[in-house]
Amino acid sequence: MTLHCKNYINGKWVDSSSKKTINRHNPADTSKVVSVVPASIAKDVDDAVHAARIAYPQWKYVPAPKRAELLYKVAQLLELEKQTIAHFMCTEMGKALAECLGDVQEGVDIGYYFAGEGRRLHGQTMPSELRNKHIRTVREPVGVFALITPWNFPVAIPCWKLFPALVAGNTVVLKPSNYVSGCATLLVQLFEKAGIPAGVVNLVHGSGDTVGNALVMHPDVDGVSFTGSTNVGRNIGEYCGKHLMKHSLEMGGKNVVIVMDDADIDLAVDACIWGAFGTTGQRCTATSRIVVHQRVYDSFKQKFAARARKLKLGNGIDKGVEVGPVLNEDQLMKVLGYLSDAKKNKLNILCGGKRAISGHLKNGYFIEPTVIDNPPRTHPVCCEEIFGPVVVVLKAKHFDDAISIANSVDYGLSAAIFTSNINHAHRAAELLEVGIVYVNSATIGAEVQLPFGGIKNTGNGHREAGGSGGALDTYTEIKVINVDFSGSLQKAQGIDWK
Ligand code: UN1
Repeated sequence: MTLHCKNYINGKWVDSSSKKTINRHNPADTSKVVSVVPASIAKDVDDAVHAARIAYPQWKYVPAPKRAELLYKVAQLLELEKQTIAHFMCTEMGKALAECLGDVQEGVDIGYYFAGEGRRLHGQTMPSELRNKHIRTVREPVGVFALITPWNFPVAIPCWKLFPALVAGNTVVLKPSNYVSGCATLLVQLFEKAGIPAGVVNLVHGSGDTVGNALVMHPDVDGVSFTGSTNVGRNIGEYCGKHLMKHSLEMGGKNVVIVMDDADIDLAVDACIWGAFGTTGQRCTATSRIVVHQRVYDSFKQKFAARARKLKLGNGIDKGVEVGPVLNEDQLMKVLGYLSDAKKNKLNILCGGKRAISGHLKNGYFIEPTVIDNPPRTHPVCCEEIFGPVVVVLKAKHFDDAISIANSVDYGLSAAIFTSNINHAHRAAELLEVGIVYVNSATIGAEVQLPFGGIKNTGNGHREAGGSGGALDTYTEIKVINVDFSGSLQKAQGIDWK
């Protein structure tokens, strides 16, 4: 099936004013066109932002529980469409079907979670220092929000942004990666079906350079939420900083698993296989470094590489396939570039290390799951985000050495430790410089009720998803309300001014 995508602006499905389109192919079989995507231009962005601006004052004053009822319906529809959308996702971006189902489920979960916020959206009350005075805070929407989303979680990440933004009363323009325009189209169709008023949710397909830039720089946009590369995020941050716009940036990772000598090694192997090669390594939370205590280094690495060699590569739609293709030719070339550099530097590649082209795999962008044995710690494979099925195993002398290797990178998203020593577990949780710590579990698979995000070059202090300090803080402004019912002019700080 080829999906012909359109933009959704002011409640209508429309072509781009450029009239141009791009064909997208199945990364597991590039002879198949999966979606036809409008190559939108600044005029389309302008129309979408205009629609969102007009719709904003009305949506803002719909009572939050009513906004939430509508969003709850969207989550229900998404749940009903889970199989259909997941199957389409698998053909559009390639990850294994089980993971596509998980992706849609994460969207459903976040939908129900933030629909619940409609009856909370808590502010705070606190005692005043003055008599006969009430003070409180309330949350208000920010305005028109630009939501710019990547291709690796084509439903979950747009949902991470759409549901909290909308329940809080913002109107939005969604600009998904144009490698997953089809999934975004299927998702936005459900908002339409649930009865979202025209202009509240707008969708513009196209490239980051054209559509993304025009959207961020549109004078009528009040906030930006971006998930993607650190380079692009930094540019967005510079622009938004200069124009004093609210902006949430969720960027790269170089996530680590520490395996101590007292760990359950089989459990650690399982978790590292899932963390490194799930989603073909294309998660910002993917395990890309495994730091192993020297006493168990050899046994871990042998078991791990043996399992990696056995992983089943193929079209993610086929039963039993564990690792799908990488997204496209650019990703393929980028990952192969790291591997050829590794070979040039004579690194010890325990398994994989090349493109997989046997049989039907030659029609897609497949790379063999690759494990690199104890490379120098300054080598790019140890420091840079690869976003593919490649992982390095590094030898540590002891716990403190492992922590210092773990913290030696510029990113700080997710980290895990495998140990049966309660002191190591708690000390690692304290010392690891990341936003998310796992003890005896993989670096991937965050639950939606937890705030999601990281430090260093991973983020700019905001969090996605739920919980205290989560996405609601991004999509709301805090307003302070003071009500003095004393009938006299009271002054805080005890000022005696006549
Ligand atoms: C991402 O890779 O950008 O924790 C998001 C996880 C998923 C989300 C990943 N829930 O791995």
